[in-house]
Amino acid sequence: MGDAQVSLYYKNITADVIGTEHGVSGEQLQELAEKTAPLVSQLNRARHDRQLPYMDLPYNDLMLEQVKRLAVELSDECENFVVLGIGGSALGNIALQTALNPYMHNLDDSQRKGPRLFVFDNVDPVQLTSFLNWVDDKLDKTIFNVISKSGSTAETASQYLILYKLLCDRIGRDRCKRQIVATTDAKEGTLRKIANEEGFRTLDVPDGVGGRFSVLSAVGLLSAAVCGIDVESLLAGAREMDKKTGCEDFYRNPAAINAAVNWHYYNRGKKISVMMPYSYALKDIADWYRQLWAESLGKAQNLAGEDVFVGPTPVKALGATDQHSQVQLYREGPNDKLFTFLEVSRFQEDVEIGPAPDYAGELDYLAGAKMSKLINSEKYATEYSLLQSRRPCLSVIFDKIDAYTVGQFIYLFEVTTSLAGLLFGINAYDQPAVELGKEATFGLMGRKDYAELAEKIKPVTKIDEHFLV
Ligand code: PA5
Repeated sequence: MGDAQVSLYYKNITADVIGTEHGVSGEQLQELAEKTAPLVSQLNRARHDRQLPYMDLPYNDLMLEQVKRLAVELSDECENFVVLGIGGSALGNIALQTALNPYMHNLDDSQRKGPRLFVFDNVDPVQLTSFLNWVDDKLDKTIFNVISKSGSTAETASQYLILYKLLCDRIGRDRCKRQIVATTDAKEGTLRKIANEEGFRTLDVPDGVGGRFSVLSAVGLLSAAVCGIDVESLLAGAREMDKKTGCEDFYRNPAAINAAVNWHYYNRGKKISVMMPYSYALKDIADWYRQLWAESLGKAQNLAGEDVFVGPTPVKALGATDQHSQVQLYREGPNDKLFTFLEVSRFQEDVEIGPAPDYAGELDYLAGAKMSKLINSEKYATEYSLLQSRRPCLSVIFDKIDAYTVGQFIYLFEVTTSLAGLLFGINAYDQPAVELGKEATFGLMGRKDYAELAEKIKPVTKIDEHFLV
């Protein structure tokens, strides 16, 4: 564990920096404080009444023990660990792996503290075939972790059925049960039924924890623990952030300020929220955030049942890469975005830039500098140029990237999402629009109880030649 912190820096949204038209004045900030502080109390009460179990995941010692025990068992048994899941059952696993294990984890044995990790969160036959060809002679050293809270998602179910058949054909049904671990609802659902029937090892998705809020449960922790990530530190980091996000003093609560600023700008026409990490390790955490934000806040109706059609559009960009792809638009295009930079103060590794040759003295300014200085200079340079164009910028500053700070970040954005949900007056925990897509897929794939829906979808599946050019 460490003292490294994650902090929110919000000076660059203020009117003092970007002017009164686009910036937040002291008065407006105080109004936001008065609006948001009671919602923090409301959230604290809901948590106390056990309505928000995701908030207590970092304190669930029993779950942590189960995950750690199984992780030790599995690490001895496998060289490859494969997650089959989608959405909230995959994005957290990917984010943790990219953030906390080396870039070359899968390719370099010497950099790896556990098995290789593969996460299949799609149903692309070409992608899967390539993997199946590779894993063919390694099946007995490969563990498949099927993750599905509902247990019936078509993408995950199909992957499972493919792998189960392959394993049965190749190593037999009896041995196959050692190769599959199911993470699903404790009692209900198809995956739970299958796991019980087949005798798979299982972990529970806790009751009342939705997919996108589940990374700090067995859903995200098992693959992390198996692959050598310090999951205790991750949860300790979340607890550290919990001390701040529960605080009813708005000005000391980073989740409250983050949610309020996002809500404020949405209401003033900045409906796009760009997260831009200046660290490759944080690239997929921006993807995790994108789902959390979009599925939680994009809602047709408010809690009173009125049509509102709200939701900021989350966009991810990677610094410095996307400076050469997106920043032209961000600076000169419509001023309709709030930017959230992710900045790292101390990189775990650094690289010194080599000397410039005599005949290219114009590169001297780079020679001998550290790459960490360059990437952070690029962040400040982009921020500065956006501020010149009066674009509001928040920064989330990681003292460094480790499990403790990543745990803080995850918790910060989960609570920010809950508070933003309260500010928008919507239910941040359902996803009715995703459900329709899931059901439509059932229908199109021939599930009998969805035949009527399949009929309705048919016109969409037919190409009308008149419009085909
Ligand atoms: O956040 C969510 O609830 C969704 O993204 C789900 O995680 C996703 O649809 C997968 O669902 P399940 O875990 O039930 O297979």
